[in-house]
Amino acid sequence: MYSKIIGTGSYLPEKILTNRDLESMVNTSDEWIRTRTGITQRHIASEDQVASDLALYASQKAMEAAGLSSKDIDLIIVATTTPDMVFPSTACILQNKLGIENCPAFDVQAVCSGFVYALATADMFVSSGKCRNALVVGTEIYSKIIDWNDRSTCVLFGDGAGAVVLTQSDQPGILSTHLHASGSYSDVLSVPGSISGGKVQGNPYINMEGSTVFKFAVKVLEEVVQEAVSKNNLQPSDIDWLIPHQANIRIIQSTAKKLGIPMDKVVIAVDKHGNTSAASIPLALDIAVRDGRIHSGQLVLLEGVGGGFTWGAVLLRW
Ligand code: ACO
Repeated sequence: MYSKIIGTGSYLPEKILTNRDLESMVNTSDEWIRTRTGITQRHIASEDQVASDLALYASQKAMEAAGLSSKDIDLIIVATTTPDMVFPSTACILQNKLGIENCPAFDVQAVCSGFVYALATADMFVSSGKCRNALVVGTEIYSKIIDWNDRSTCVLFGDGAGAVVLTQSDQPGILSTHLHASGSYSDVLSVPGSISGGKVQGNPYINMEGSTVFKFAVKVLEEVVQEAVSKNNLQPSDIDWLIPHQANIRIIQSTAKKLGIPMDKVVIAVDKHGNTSAASIPLALDIAVRDGRIHSGQLVLLEGVGGGFTWGAVLLRW
């Protein structure tokens, strides 16, 4: 038994923040942001929106595309670094918003690799027969953990959500999943703050050594793609669509170049979304499915890296 994605959906908040808008907020320029990151704009959630709201819209679209309703879902995994609250999990809150009475529901916290981690976890439940239809969501409101006075981070991130429905199939589907982590890099990329005694202790904003993240990302993303294709006796050139985590166009281009994958086989959304962390891969996937680029029988590789560090890949036959 395999698991197979049968529906995708996504949601972006209405408000768009352009590079020009940022020019009036911090000492930056549209030219700097575009040339260093490839980003031209990002979406920003409204004050009253929480991650489960974004997840709800994306999930409804994914279930509609799958031809399933809430009552068919028997597992919910939400990847997020910006949960609605400390607890209950965003997955439980989403379950309630979807009107689902009883099924396992939990969050996965692997920062920008969160969706790959969540999909790999759901694959184990579905392909083992423990669940029939899993809803897997990446949802983030990074605008809440950005220091809007810090030009080195505030230009990079955006808000959004993406979702997929994974179901049992006698044909692949997901061919293999590959997860890694190295906690020794936790100082390089973090939000170090925590809540204690009713107060925020420490820095509640993103703290990042950008160039260290950049070099590490290109190295491990190439390695994990090679690991995924060689496990399946394939070559990077066999991949029809590479769907990378959308952090920076230069990371994506460098990884593709090292792998010998032409950019016209790479799905790009970072220009319009910025880095939406755990939401970035399902957002890019949904766009490429809905505009007809990805179709039946094609080989698709999802890969991501994020705080932790965590990194991973999912290779699948569409
Ligand atoms: N506008 C203008 N100038 C800026 C800005 C800005 N927004 N930000 C930094 N600068 C300046 C710096 O101060 C520096 O100036 P200096 O030379 O006078 O000191 C100069 O630009 C160059 O800065 P660098 O950090 O060397 O620029 P770099 O080319 O490395 O690009 C960037 C920085 C875009 C952050 C890049 O390193 C990067 O993308 N790294 C990866 C980040 C990433 O992907 N993070 C998310 C990981 S996923 C997750 O888990 C959340």
